[in-house]
Formats: sequence, structure tokens, C-alpha cells
Amino acid sequence: MYTQAMDIPHGDGKPAAVDDPARAAAFDERAARGEFVEAKDWMPEAYRKTLIRQISQHAHSEVVGMLPEGNWISRAPSLKRKAILLAKIQDEGGHGLYLYAAAETLGVSRDDLIDALHSGKAKYSSIFNYPTLTWADIGVIGWLVDGAAIMNQVPLCRCSYGPYARAMIRICKEESFHQRQGFDALHTMMQGTDAQRAMVQDAVNRWWWPVLMMFGPHDKDSQHSETSMKWGIKRISNDELRQQFVDATVEQGKVLGVTFPDPDLRWNEARGHHDFGTIDWSEFWNVVNGHGPCNRERLAARVGAWEDGAWVREAALAHARKRAARAQSAAA
Ligand SMILES: [Fe+2]
Ligand SMILES: [Fe+2]
Repeated sequence: MYTQAMDIPHGDGKPAAVDDPARAAAFDERAARGEFVEAKDWMPEAYRKTLIRQISQHAHSEVVGMLPEGNWISRAPSLKRKAILLAKIQDEGGHGLYLYAAAETLGVSRDDLIDALHSGKAKYSSIFNYPTLTWADIGVIGWLVDGAAIMNQVPLCRCSYGPYARAMIRICKEESFHQRQGFDALHTMMQGTDAQRAMVQDAVNRWWWPVLMMFGPHDKDSQHSETSMKWGIKRISNDELRQQFVDATVEQGKVLGVTFPDPDLRWNEARGHHDFGTIDWSEFWNVVNGHGPCNRERLAARVGAWEDGAWVREAALAHARKRAARAQSAAA
């Protein structure tokens, strides 16, 4: 999902901090009771680190996710679609800001988090390293990518860390608009010409498997999942979420009139779920490790945008300094 680094081996080479065992036990009990943890509460170092990693990766995914869609603002097919796309991309920027702010409550600086993204140290969701080749890709991103994000993020509204959980409530409301606008754009195209229908089907074919990879590795291969479950950071496993997503999306695909590129996809009466084919995990790891179709392009665009915006940050700081000086001389 937007937080795949949770499932990926990591480590900064430093020995883990040792927590006071009595405090750690009391914390585990609080988490088991389903209580929220707030910024000033005591928390185990591993809990803090896990959250910083997860929330910052989530924030990075929101802002990098603006790039593939931003490529289509000037090519949207109508004024209505352009206005919707602009609003959606602005929402994603806002999601990034709420999430960086939530991460800062854990004692990290936003500058350090952004440096880690720009230097390639921090991860963001693998899905944003795929290209947006046609207008139908924009619809499919809304329908499937935002749809998968909602599936993963609704349980995060009950995450044990209060500032993260509260940010997710507003984010999820906006994500459901994103999903609906994508479905609506595709639905309109499906009522159009054969060429438009073929464009939608082609986009679904290219995005389907990478979207299933967004939920992260199988539960048995997922690092850190157990501790994250114990602490109430994660509530539902990768495989369960992926299954929920497949079951919901197959039905939506029928309404839309598209098929999915998986010959093994079929309803399993005994399980009460859809079976689906094997995911190509070598592709997933390849993209996560920086070798997807657009990894370099995305990072370069992100760093470029940051550098182009330097004058805005400098001007805002200069203005703030002037105001502070004026206030001080008025008070003197
Ligand atoms: Fe978002
Ligand atoms: Fe979104």
C-alpha cells in the first residue's frame, strides 16, 4: 500500500534502544485495550520508529503520487475533467502535509524526512513508478489505486497513534471522492466509442497487477507485521486487505464492462471469495528497489519541484522575519 516499507527489511545499523520493561508492559496493555496514544505520552522507541517510517512513507507517497497525474492536467479532455483532476491533485498535496505534520509530532523534522526522500533513502509506494500513458490511466488510478488506498487506509482511522488516526479520517473522506471520480471518468468512456473502450481496457490490463502489489508481500513474508498488529498500528493483514479489494473490485468491473488480466480470477463458492492468480513478486521487489519504469523520472521531478520552489520558501521566511521584527519594535 502507501506504506509498503513496513514490510521491507530495514535497519539503521544502530542497536535498538532498550525500553524500561515496566513502562513497555504498561504500554502493551494500553494498546491491547485499544486506547489511543498521544504525542506526549511515553512510547517504546520501536513504536516511535515504526510510526515515523510508516507515516513519512505515506506522506512521500501522497506527494510523489501527484506527479503521474500532474502530467495530465494540461491534456484533460474537458474543462470539467480538468477541474476535477486539479482538485484531486491538490487534495493529495494536502494529504502529504497532514501526514508530515503527524510525523513531526513524533520528534522528527520535516526537512530531514524530505531529505531522505530526495536522496533516495526513503521509500514511497511502488505504484507511482508506473507511467500514465493515456487519459484512461487517470481514471484507472482513481478507481483502482485510490480504491486500494481506501481499503488500506480506513482501518488506519483506528490506528493506535492519535495524530495519525485523526489525519486519516479526513484523508479517507477525500479518497472516496477520488475513487468515485475515477470510476465516473471510466464509465463515461465506456459509453463512448470502441477506441475509448479499448483504451480503458488497456489501462486496466496494465494497472491490475501493480495495484494488487500495493498491499505488500504475503503475510508470511511480511516483516514487522506482527508487532504492528500487537501495537494497533496495523489492524488487518496484507492478504486480507488484498482479498477484500479483489472481491469489491470484480463487481465494480462488471458494472463498468471491463475484464481483468487474470485467467485464474473466479468466484470460489466454498471460500466465499474470489480466487486470483499468482503475483509476480520479482517485479514488485524490482520496483521497490528502484528499478521500476519511472523511479528515476519521479525522483528527478520531485527534486526539481523542490528546487524550483526554493524562492517561495525563502520569501515566506523573509516575510515572517520582517513581521516578527516589526512586532518587536512596536512592542518596544
Ligand atoms: Fe491521498
Ligand atoms: Fe487519492
